[in-house]
Amino acid sequence: MNRYVKFKNIVLIGMSGAGKTTVGKYIASKLNMEFVNTDDIIVFNFGDTIEHIFSEYGEEYFRDLEKQVIEGLKEKENIVISTGGGVVIDEVNIDILKKNGIFVYLEASIDTLVRNVKSSKENRPLLDKDNLYSSIKEIYNKRKGLYISSADYIVQVDNKSVELIGDEVIYILNN
Ligand code: S3P
Repeated sequence: MNRYVKFKNIVLIGMSGAGKTTVGKYIASKLNMEFVNTDDIIVFNFGDTIEHIFSEYGEEYFRDLEKQVIEGLKEKENIVISTGGGVVIDEVNIDILKKNGIFVYLEASIDTLVRNVKSSKENRPLLDKDNLYSSIKEIYNKRKGLYISSADYIVQVDNKSVELIGDEVIYILNN
């Protein structure tokens, strides 16, 4: 790793289904770094599923929990962070994660996102299962600008394996 990257966190951002978690785990194991997933920390801390937090307490409440988790990561270094797709909505999250992190946006077409979300076991309460394409597209259109403006690097993921994407991220950060 070059000096710029060493000890920095690698922060993966992007929509649900872009592969942040699978790619993040791959990168972490290759670089011998710790891996964290902000949704998993929420589930662990709160003792409830993401789906149930949304249905019982609403999105705003979930965003508060998400923000607390981000806040709790601010002293961390040298870890790979897979963020929830909506983390970029709040610029406080971006500011905190940017202090010690390099943002890599995993950019995917709507078709790729739909395919991956369909084949995933995760439940995404913001997405309408019966209208997956249009609900993903609607959210993507709202967030696209935020992903791009907060990204230090953008990696296209369409038609690539997890290994290829992960190696591309590592290559970019090394060079
Ligand atoms: C969300 C994405 C989810 C999870 C929550 C909200 C979003 O994470 O944080 O359901 O707002 O896009 P993934 O990006 O891992 O699916």
